[in-house]
Amino acid sequence: MIQSSLDLFDPHPQRLARHTLLLPGFALPELEALLDALRPVLRAAPFRHMHTPGGLRMAVALTNCGALGWVSDENGYRYTPIDPVSAKPWPALPPLLVDLATRAAAQAGFDGFVADACLVNHYLPGTRLSLHQDRDEQDYGQPIVSISLGLPAIFLFGGLQRSERPRHIPLSHGDVLVWGGEDRLRFHGVLPIKPGVHPRMGERRINLTLRKAG
Ligand code: SIN
Ligand code: FE2
Repeated sequence: MIQSSLDLFDPHPQRLARHTLLLPGFALPELEALLDALRPVLRAAPFRHMHTPGGLRMAVALTNCGALGWVSDENGYRYTPIDPVSAKPWPALPPLLVDLATRAAAQAGFDGFVADACLVNHYLPGTRLSLHQDRDEQDYGQPIVSISLGLPAIFLFGGLQRSERPRHIPLSHGDVLVWGGEDRLRFHGVLPIKPGVHPRMGERRINLTLRKAG
């Protein structure tokens, strides 16, 4: 059978591991509403470069919305209800985002996921995120739901040990990736973003990770 070029774009969910599902383009139908909802969040809590507990400036700029937000400083990594920059609570989580994450999680087999935190990462070309585990949340029974916007990225998806060589997963604008269950503590990261200009988002990648942190 001759493959049509349409088959090269595969919009079907892809199971990457037992409890990991990639939903290509899942966020695209609501993209403009999502960007509208994000604008006031970024005005109230602008992106900032945090420092690792060891004092290194993180390459990724980040901010949060939701009841809890992730912060890093000389006192360590943690979730806090207050934005240390504005000294106010983090902006509320847009209901549209909570709903999108609940639906994506359900597709991956995690029913009843209700996010209370959204970490927003900003990558410029050249920015990378080194391998790490997400372990500051209370309940590892709850998945992580990641929404990618803008420039494409290669997501590194490793094992439960840092030494395990990670797989390379291409993530594009609008893709949603859900990992939980036995995959919840897999090491993951992002290769340096390749130079480029995304037609809708410009010269950047933005990643939203929705979590049940508290
Ligand atoms: C993260 O691990 O917090 C972000 C992952 C990503 O940007 O795709
Ligand atoms: Fe992470």
